[in-house]
Amino acid sequence: MNNNKLENKKVIVTGGAGFIGSHLCEELVKINANVISIDDMSAGHQSNTELLKNNNNFKFVNKSVTDTNGMDELFDGAYAIFHNAASKKNICDKDPKKDLNVNAEGALNLLEYSKKHKVERFIHASTGSVYGEPSIFPSTEDHPLSPVSYYGVSKLAGERYVDVFNHLYGLKTTILRYFHIYGPRQESNEFGGVVSIFLRNALAGTPLVIFGDGKQIRSFTWVKDLVSINLKAAVADEAVGQVYNAVSGIQISVLDLAKKIVEITGSKSEIVHGERLLGDIDYFDVSNQKVSNELGIEFEKDFWGTLECALSEYKKDF
Ligand SMILES: NC(=O)c1ccc[n+]([C@@H]2O[C@H](COP(=O)([O-])OP(=O)(O)OC[C@H]3O[C@@H](n4cnc5c(N)ncnc54)[C@H](O)[C@@H]3O)[C@@H](O)[C@H]2O)c1
Repeated sequence: MNNNKLENKKVIVTGGAGFIGSHLCEELVKINANVISIDDMSAGHQSNTELLKNNNNFKFVNKSVTDTNGMDELFDGAYAIFHNAASKKNICDKDPKKDLNVNAEGALNLLEYSKKHKVERFIHASTGSVYGEPSIFPSTEDHPLSPVSYYGVSKLAGERYVDVFNHLYGLKTTILRYFHIYGPRQESNEFGGVVSIFLRNALAGTPLVIFGDGKQIRSFTWVKDLVSINLKAAVADEAVGQVYNAVSGIQISVLDLAKKIVEITGSKSEIVHGERLLGDIDYFDVSNQKVSNELGIEFEKDFWGTLECALSEYKKDF
């Protein structure tokens, strides 16, 4: 399993101007892959790939994954696609039909082009939300799938299309279910993750709002570990046709997270409680045995250390 297999290969990253996609683009360019980032900029930022803009191994295409115009040219000769573009949870709640269009139809569109152009690997970003409220712990990949959000349903539809292309046409696909990814460049507005929102609020001295009592457990994963999983999945024979929980196993309650962030930032921010969110999930204890054993991933264990690293990035804006 050597990431060098990606060297000089044309690879497509959808959602490349987003949080996770931009980290993926950065690492792929570092290992000399020729990266095409497709993003419609609905939630992405040019600044996320600022360091890559003059790199000959990086090309940005402003385009929706649902658009077919010009897609043939982009897919021609591509070795792998890392499909990370998505209509995310908060958007889905406001516009459930958009998530169906982007997360299901968008995936289907990319799968069709991957099949047509004989792309070697299709690495699909899914989500722990496909499980819904977990009932078996630790939750492995064969836990029942029972999403409780529009987002989860649309991402599950995306997964199902991926499976169909693997079963019917032998497309070499891998599904990665992400959970609570955190790290530099994560959006800290209403569409962001709890870590980035709390870090920014603590730095700004504004209240850290916890929805509910804060005892809900989240399973956080450092973005750079997730990038390693994606790269391994794109080269490992074992990963073909598989689904993996892409999760570090770090479990922290939202309340503990808020308290610690206030502490490490020395913030005067208050911790306040708001109404519990509809469809919010209380407890995560997700197994990473399969991804660790089969892909040899060693996860970052120092959650608070990586948090300090993310914090130093956010401080630049203050
Ligand atoms: N961040 C997490 O904790 C987390 C957890 C589970 C799953 N995921 C999945 O990871 C992937 C990346 O998420 P992220 O956190 O980086 O989100 P993000 O919003 O930062 O990135 C998503 C990117 O997709 C782009 N996009 C949206 N619709 C598009 C379209 N129709 N065509 C092209 N581009 C489009 C956006 O502009 C954005 O740049 C998504 O598939 C998401 O469902 C993320």
